[in-house]
Amino acid sequence: MNRREFLLGSAAATGAAGLGGYSMAANPQELVIQPARFALRDQVTTGMVSLSPDAPPPVLYGRQGEIMRLPVRNTLPEYTAMHWHGLRIPNEMDGVPYLTQMPIGSDEVFGYTFTPPDAGTYWYHPHCMTMEQMAHGLTGVMVIAEAEDPGFDGEQVINLRDFRLDDEDQFLPAYTQRGAARAGTFGNVQTANWLDAPIYDHTAGGLVRLRVVNSDTTRIYKLHLQGAEARIIAWDGHPVEIDLAMPSADAPLLVGPGQRVDFAVAMPGVEGQTVDLMAKLPGQPHRAMAQLRATGTSSARDLRELRPLAPNPVAKPDLANAELHEFVFGWTPEGGEPINGFCGSLGYNFWSINRKPWPGDAAQGLGPLATLEMGKSYVLRLRNESPNLHPIHLHGLAFVPLKSNQRTLPPLMTDTMLLLKDEVVEIALVADNPGDWAFHCHVIEHQKTGLTGFIRVVRGGKRTVL
Ligand code: C2O
Ligand code: CU
Ligand code: CU
Repeated sequence: MNRREFLLGSAAATGAAGLGGYSMAANPQELVIQPARFALRDQVTTGMVSLSPDAPPPVLYGRQGEIMRLPVRNTLPEYTAMHWHGLRIPNEMDGVPYLTQMPIGSDEVFGYTFTPPDAGTYWYHPHCMTMEQMAHGLTGVMVIAEAEDPGFDGEQVINLRDFRLDDEDQFLPAYTQRGAARAGTFGNVQTANWLDAPIYDHTAGGLVRLRVVNSDTTRIYKLHLQGAEARIIAWDGHPVEIDLAMPSADAPLLVGPGQRVDFAVAMPGVEGQTVDLMAKLPGQPHRAMAQLRATGTSSARDLRELRPLAPNPVAKPDLANAELHEFVFGWTPEGGEPINGFCGSLGYNFWSINRKPWPGDAAQGLGPLATLEMGKSYVLRLRNESPNLHPIHLHGLAFVPLKSNQRTLPPLMTDTMLLLKDEVVEIALVADNPGDWAFHCHVIEHQKTGLTGFIRVVRGGKRTVL
């Protein structure tokens, strides 16, 4: 498959998914942040935000090692900034307001240009007015294709997320004070690609790469697959090099906000049979979030025909010489005044990292949580001293979990570590990307009420003062 076929194939596959591909071909089109008309249930929900006038944010396709040009135009009256979650790209393209760029004002364009070093499933979302814009729809998937085609017959992207609607299908407030101080405020309408349990056709007996993204602001999805032989082949973008047990109804896979899982799925050989992506929501029976339906005569392929995905070029930490840094995630002792700035504030602080709440999105006045030296290895000890779960996300770098005080953690490369209640996890990384990297909980209400900070990676041991 050459590049053109790949792009067409992808667009066709996503066309089936109702998401519409946006190809990264020669002429970069603008990504226009705009209001969208869309009915999530029966009636059009006013105030949705997308990159299209009437559809969800498209899947953005790129290829490992090839440049992507993504000019983002903001047509909303408020500010924004776009972040490419999981991509290890230069700091100035990371989309974090004040830390890496100024917010994008109304009718301004910011030209994001970068070359993704890693293949896999990533995603994008705003990092300014994050709560409002994400809650109203602005979360999309990025697929970075391997330099070498792994040999699937088809691909299916599933973007899982909730919306919070009233009886007239209109938006309820995206957050509550009660939620922000606890597990977050949950949506009441579950969607896959903005749809209620969509069904996607794929060739019977074919091998499908199922890319599942949790782009919700709050919910930790508990997932399993039903009706197929399948394997987990990637986690948070990166290829899985060990045999992982497939999740089941009794032992579902926890996928926190910001996390992704890729399955290799062998479609059933009989036309009409389905593979169901199942989720367990509190107080409800398991439900299918999306289904893959077998069509045509069986191509009778076997999971063993797949070549393993090539590992991404992530440096292995030198544990013997790694320096330890500790981080405590918990409530904030004194609260403090949130700073509004151009990027929105929920109006209160509940959370902190190392006892310091981050005031809104404004970086001014607060230094880095840690300063790391370029090329050196580090162990970060992450302590959750709260009863709530926190998907802790680090921009710009990939890391590997080493150990937990509560469970055995498989050494899966990631950018987001889901911390359980009172859990202490050690992760390791090589600080190989210079810049100021946001470090925060991906429950947006936690992020926006103090559970944020940044880690600085400096060249040559020089320490600059903020
Ligand atoms: Cu997915 Cu700082 O974000
Ligand atoms: Cu990120
Ligand atoms: Cu949190």
